[in-house]
Amino acid sequence: MPEIKFYKHEPIPLEMHKVKIVQQLKLLPVDERLKKMKEAGFNTFQLHNGDIFMDMLTDSGVNAMSDEMLAGMMKPDDAYAGSETFYRMRDKLEEIFGIKYFLPAHQGRACENILASFYVKPDNCVIMNYHFTTAKAHITRLGGRVEELVKEEGLISKSNLPFKGDIDLDAVKACIEKETPENVPFIRIEAGTNLIGGQPISYANMKAVTELAKSYGIPTVLDASLLQDNLYFIKMREEGMKDKSIREITRMIADLYDIIYFSGRKFGFARGGGILVREESLYHAMEDLIPMFEGFLTYGGMSVREMEALTVGFDESMEMDVISQGPQFIDYCVRKLDEYGVPVITPGGGLGAHLDAMQFVSHIPQDQYPAGALVCALYICGGIRGMERGTLSEERNADGSERFASMELVRMALPRRVFTLSQTEYVIDRVKWLYDHRELVGGLRFVHEPKTLRFFTGILEATSDWPEKLAAAYKADFGEDQ
Ligand SMILES: Cc1ncc(COP(=O)(O)O)c(C=O)c1O
Repeated sequence: MPEIKFYKHEPIPLEMHKVKIVQQLKLLPVDERLKKMKEAGFNTFQLHNGDIFMDMLTDSGVNAMSDEMLAGMMKPDDAYAGSETFYRMRDKLEEIFGIKYFLPAHQGRACENILASFYVKPDNCVIMNYHFTTAKAHITRLGGRVEELVKEEGLISKSNLPFKGDIDLDAVKACIEKETPENVPFIRIEAGTNLIGGQPISYANMKAVTELAKSYGIPTVLDASLLQDNLYFIKMREEGMKDKSIREITRMIADLYDIIYFSGRKFGFARGGGILVREESLYHAMEDLIPMFEGFLTYGGMSVREMEALTVGFDESMEMDVISQGPQFIDYCVRKLDEYGVPVITPGGGLGAHLDAMQFVSHIPQDQYPAGALVCALYICGGIRGMERGTLSEERNADGSERFASMELVRMALPRRVFTLSQTEYVIDRVKWLYDHRELVGGLRFVHEPKTLRFFTGILEATSDWPEKLAAAYKADFGEDQ
C-alpha cells in the first residue's frame, strides 16, 4: 500500500482491497470465555474457533484469498500424475525464484521433514539465525542439534534496529570451525524470523552468510515461509533497495541459496508448500522422499485447487500493495501499544504484534509460563486468541529440566486482508486494559505434558484462582455481556 496522505486525519493504514465475502463473528460474554478457557486446558490451540471473536493465533492458512485466487480454484487439472496444475505452479515458482527443480509438499513442516531426513545424522549441528518449532523438532528427532546464532541485539525487545533477524557472522564462523564443516549439514536462514517477533533479516546479511557457507562447502537453505514480509522490510528499510522491485529483490535473494522451502499457508496465502532445489542431482537424490511421505511428485499432498490458488498467490506476494498490508497494520498496533507503555517488540515486524510477557507480567516466574498465562488472560478479557511463543513452545532438556526461552512472547497475528482497523483498535484497547490489570494474571502448570511440540496439545491449569479474579475485574468495567 503506498503512503496515502490524509487531509485532516493522522496517517493510518489504508486497505487496498474491498471485502466481498464475510464470516459472521460472535463475542461470548466474559463468564462463558472463562469457562471455555478452562475447558481448553489453558491452551489457546484447544479453543474452538466458534468461541473466538478475534482469531489472532496465526496467519498460517487463514489469510483471506483474493477473487483471482478463488477464480483459479475453479480450473484445476485433477490427476494423480502429470497434472497441468502442478506444472503451472512449478513454472510460476521458476519465474519468480529462477530455480527449476521443485518438490511439492503438503505444508512447511513436511518440507522440514524431507530436508532433515535427507541431511541430518546423529550429532550433526544445523546452524540457523533462529529456530522454528517444527524445523527444530525434525532435526532433534533425528539426533541432530540446532545452533541459533542471531545477533544478540535481535533479542532485545525494545529497539529500533531494522533487521533483528540478522545472523552473527563471527559466531557462525566460530561454530563451523568448532564443529568442522563436515558436521554442519546445512545452514538454515529464516526470513521474517517467526519466534523473535517476525523480525526481518537484511539482504546484506544473507549475502554474507551464504558466501561464508560456500567457502566451507556447506549447503544453504532459506525458509521462505515469511518471505513476503521480509521483502517489504528490505525494500522499505535497507540501503540501496528502495528503487528495486519486489521481484528483483526476490531474485537477488533466491540467487544466494542452494535450497528454498516454504509453507504455502503463509507464502502464497493458501495451503501447501514445497522445496525448490537448484541442482538437478540434489533434486533427484531427494525426490523419492516425496512419494514416500507426501504424495506423487506432481501434487505432494496438496489438493489441485489449493495449488491453483497458490499459483495466483505467489504473484500477489510480489505486489507491494498486497504485502504491505500486514506490516502496516502491525506497525500501527505496535506504535499505539508502545505509546501507552505496553511492552511490545519494536520495531513492529511481520506476522503479528508481539507482547513481551517477560516484562508485561514480570511477577510470573518463567517456570510458570508467563507468555502462556498472558495469552489465556487475553482470551478471557476480549475473546482474542493469540499464541504463546516462549518457554511453553520449547521442549525440555534431555535431563527433564525446563529449557527457558530467550524471549517470552504473546503473538497477536494479523492474517493478511482479514481484519479491519476498527477490529485492530478493539484489540489495542483490550490489551491496554489488561496491562492496567496485569497484576491479576497468575501462572500456569501442566496437567498433561506431551514430550514433543507440547504447546499444541498440552493441558494446563491455573496456579490459583487468578482467572476468576481477572474475569470479575473485567465484568466490573465492561458489564456481564461483553
Ligand atoms: C518460519 C516458518 N517455517 C515453517 C513453518 C511451518 O509451516 P507449516 O505450518 O505450513 O507446517 C512455519 C509455520 O508457521 C513458519 O512460520
